[in-house]
Amino acid sequence: MIPATHYSGRVAREYEAQRSGQWEWTAEHDAVARWLDGAPRGSTVLDAPVGTGRFLELYAERGLRCLGVDCSADMLAIAAAKNTGAAFLRADLRDSPFIPFSARAVCVRLANWLTPPELSSVLRLLSSRTREIVLGIATSPVCSVEVGGARTHVERMVLEDLETAQLSVERRDPVTLAREYTYAIWYLQRRDDVAG
Ligand SMILES: C[S@@+](CC[C@H](N)C(=O)[O-])C[C@H]1O[C@@H](n2cnc3c(N)ncnc32)[C@H](O)[C@@H]1O
Repeated sequence: MIPATHYSGRVAREYEAQRSGQWEWTAEHDAVARWLDGAPRGSTVLDAPVGTGRFLELYAERGLRCLGVDCSADMLAIAAAKNTGAAFLRADLRDSPFIPFSARAVCVRLANWLTPPELSSVLRLLSSRTREIVLGIATSPVCSVEVGGARTHVERMVLEDLETAQLSVERRDPVTLAREYTYAIWYLQRRDDVAG
């Protein structure tokens, strides 16, 4: 579990500058941008956690409304200063906060700070508040491994969590294929919509 104070002060201020050159950062950006192209103008995207709001311009360019949720006041302040018209809520996603319904949700770079029970609970929360989700997650085939202080999740357990949360996996696009884990963008859809 990530300490609540980790994303504050200098870490928050330097967050984007330190990561925006990463290959994964660009791949995530492009994946989210393509996925949003199918979203009707005026619809709402839940960005959880929104962090410093790296995707806010993508929403604004497409006429999408955004609710950004994050537990860090400093990350939210940086996101709010971008003045894209998004709304923000400071909340801990593990506590199942009340979040209004949105058509789509973006959940990037959170999963691997969560324990398996926390991930299950966040997936159930997202499933109850949205229809389609783009999830960035690192998974391992057999057991969880630590990568730079973050953990991977066991693929079979994630699939079980998604089943419980009534979420179908529409597609997975691998971003990083390492020996012990795969970091991928998963496109999820709430099952009652799939069934029609
Ligand atoms: C690595 S950043 C990712 C932010 C953004 N999604 C991105 O891709 O840049 C992780 C963010 O998750 C937030 N966070 C971590 N645990 C959280 C929780 N339990 N509830 C809400 N936000 C959380 C942190 O405050 C931080 O802003």
